[in-house]
Amino acid sequence: MQYLDTVKRIQFEISTVCNSQCIGCARTDSSTLKTKPIIPKNQFLSLDIFEKIFKDNRTKNLTEVQFCGSIDEATCHPNFLDIIKIILNTHEHIRLSIHTNGGTRSTKYWIKLATLLKKFGGHEVRFAFDGLEDTNHIYRHNVSWKKLTSNAQAFIDEGGNATCQTLKFPWNSHQIDNIQNLAIEMGFRRFQLRHDRSVASEMKVEEILKLRKSKKLDLGGYRQAVYDPYDNWIDDSFKDEFINRDNDKVNCLFKKDDMLFINWNAQVWPCCFISNHLLGGYLKQKQLFKETYFLYGKNFNSLKHYTLTEILNTEWFKNKFVASWDNGIRDKENPRLWICSHKCTKNSIPHQEKTSDVISIPRRQHKVLS
Ligand SMILES: C[S@@+](CC[C@H](N)C(=O)[O-])C[C@H]1O[C@@H](n2cnc3c(N)ncnc32)[C@H](O)[C@@H]1O
Ligand code: SF4
Ligand code: SF4
Repeated sequence: MQYLDTVKRIQFEISTVCNSQCIGCARTDSSTLKTKPIIPKNQFLSLDIFEKIFKDNRTKNLTEVQFCGSIDEATCHPNFLDIIKIILNTHEHIRLSIHTNGGTRSTKYWIKLATLLKKFGGHEVRFAFDGLEDTNHIYRHNVSWKKLTSNAQAFIDEGGNATCQTLKFPWNSHQIDNIQNLAIEMGFRRFQLRHDRSVASEMKVEEILKLRKSKKLDLGGYRQAVYDPYDNWIDDSFKDEFINRDNDKVNCLFKKDDMLFINWNAQVWPCCFISNHLLGGYLKQKQLFKETYFLYGKNFNSLKHYTLTEILNTEWFKNKFVASWDNGIRDKENPRLWICSHKCTKNSIPHQEKTSDVISIPRRQHKVLS
C-alpha cells in the first residue's frame, strides 16, 4: 500500500533557525538548554523548492499547508512572505496555518502577513502564550513579552485569524484563566490549552534559570550522530518497551490526515517524528538509515534531486513503508521503524487529540474593530 494516495496536507520545516530556545523543543539539548550543536546553522529551504512542490501534480488535491516544523520558527526565514506568495499563486483555495512564538520581526511584518493570509481559503496563526509577562520567557527563552503581544495585536487588528495556544506548566498553571481572559481581550478567535509533552514540567524554575545563565555546552551526547550511513551495521538494540509493542496496530497520525513532512534540507518524510531522527544520535538514526538510504540511496527523498511525484513513487513510499507496520521492529525483512511503535501504537502517550483542549471564543467576544 502507498503511504499516501492523495496528498492533502503538507507540514513544513523551512529552516534550522529559531530566535528562541524552548526547553522541550527538538532543537534544544535538555541538559544544557542550549541549541544542539548537531543543528546546522542558517540553513533555509530555497524558493525554487517551493515552486517545484506547488507545481507538482501530486499537490493538486492539497487542502492545507502547515508551517509547524520541529526545529524552526517560520518567520525567521528571510523569504517567508515570498514563500507564502508562491503558494498563493497556485493554491489560494487552501488553508494555511502557522505556529509561532510571536517574538520575531516588527508589527509591520505581522500586518503584511495578515494581509497575505486573508487571501487564502482559510488561515490560522497560533501564537504561543506559555504564561504571562512574568512567566512566558521561562519556556520561551529570548521571546520578549512586549514584542509577542504587540505583534499578535497587530496581526489581529489587521483581520488575521489568531489562536492563543498555551502550554501548561507547573509555573503557569495558576495563570490559565488570566491568559484566556487576555486572549479574549486581544481578539483571539480560539484559546487552546496544550499539555507539555517534554521534560520541562519536571524541572524547577530555579534550575531552568541557572542553566540559562550558564555558558556550559556538553557536546557528549551528539558526537556520535555524525556518521557514515553505509558503515558499521550492527544489531539494533531496542528497549523492551518498543519490542513489546510489535503486535500493536500502528495508527499513523500523519496518514490519517493524508499529511507529509518536508524538512529544511528539502527531504520528504512521512512525518516530523521520522525527520527528527536525523537529530537524534547514532542509535536512533541507524534503523532509519538502514531501511531507507542504504536501500534507495541517500538522495532518494530529496527535492534537490527529484520531484515530489518521483519521491512518492519510490519503492519505500509506494510499498515498503506501510507494509513495515505489519512487521516487528527486529525483523530482518522490512522491519517496522521503532519510532512508529513509539509514537503511533495504543500505548503511545500523548496522542495529539488527548493532549489539548480547544475553546472557541464566541464571536460577540472578539475584539470590536473601530
Ligand atoms: C516545535 S514548534 C515549531 C513552531 C514554532 N517555532 C512554535 O514554537 O510555535 C511546533 C509546535 O510544538 C509546540 N510545542 C513546543 N514545545 C512543546 C511541548 N513541550 N509540548 C507540546 N507542544 C510543544 C509549539 O507550541 C508548536 O505548536
Ligand atoms: S519557538 Fe518553536 S522552534 Fe523555537 S525553540 Fe521554541 S518550540 Fe522550538
Ligand atoms: S511515527 Fe510512523 S506511524 Fe507515526 S506518524 Fe510517523 S510515520 Fe506515521
